[in-house]
Amino acid sequence: MAEPRRLLPLQMSEVSYRINGRTLIDRIDLSIRTGTRTVILGPNGAGKSVLMRLAHGLLEPTGGQIRWNVPEARPREQAMVFQRPVMLRRSARANIEYALKLAGVPAGQRAERAMAALARVGLETIAHNPARVLSGGEQQRLALARAWALEPQVLFLDEPTASLDPGAAREVEAIIDAIHAAGTKIVMSTHNLGQARRLADEILYLQAGRIEESTAAAEFFRQPRSAHAAAFIEGELPWR
Ligand SMILES: Nc1ncnc2c1ncn2[C@@H]1O[C@H](COP(=O)(O)OP(=O)(O)OP(=O)(O)O)[C@@H](O)[C@H]1O
Ligand SMILES: [Mg+2]
Repeated sequence: MAEPRRLLPLQMSEVSYRINGRTLIDRIDLSIRTGTRTVILGPNGAGKSVLMRLAHGLLEPTGGQIRWNVPEARPREQAMVFQRPVMLRRSARANIEYALKLAGVPAGQRAERAMAALARVGLETIAHNPARVLSGGEQQRLALARAWALEPQVLFLDEPTASLDPGAAREVEAIIDAIHAAGTKIVMSTHNLGQARRLADEILYLQAGRIEESTAAAEFFRQPRSAHAAAFIEGELPWR
């Protein structure tokens, strides 16, 4: 099989997103590279979700440019998982099979790949349960299994543990680490500092639609350069 063409790096140049006279993302320059876990950190309303949606292509920037390494590739080998995953009214396994179908996986391979994906997140025993009756933590693991089954080069995760208790959140973090270890680029947003410390290789600190810092995680936590980031780490609510 031919090597998949590398989607990364993803370059954003002067990217803005304005709506109804408000600037939600303000002239952002960044480069998303392969190999690291990138965490977008910032307070509520900073623009993390909007930035992830722009990067994934769910929103079009109103200014600037977003360029993938292979702009013409369709479908792109990328996936996104949201805070509250949307599940179809079908079994857990059928939810994954449906995603595989949309991705063009031949019918004969879907069941096996879906079961393998469920096993990787520890959900094989509930494969036949309706997805919508699973607990919040199980649904999020299912959402990760569904995304992982597509073997994306890049996975965007928007606050994947925001509505979970600490135990369920740790299970999800372990899965995110495993997806990273298997070679998928992780781009995750969170406003949970502990989670950022545990998972991030590099931090993009976002505040009021601007990237205020883009640094190796260890350096960011040792000595943040922006006053907003320092206040955020200290647990103060940064002014918006
Ligand atoms: N489609 C939209 N139309 C108008 N305003 C929007 C739209 N989407 C987001 N916003 C606003 O843009 C700002 C940034 O929103 P965003 O959801 O990206 O923040 P966030 O950093 O993800 O916050 P949180 O941590 O609460 O998830 C918010 O003030 C939000 O109300
Ligand atoms: Mg958000």
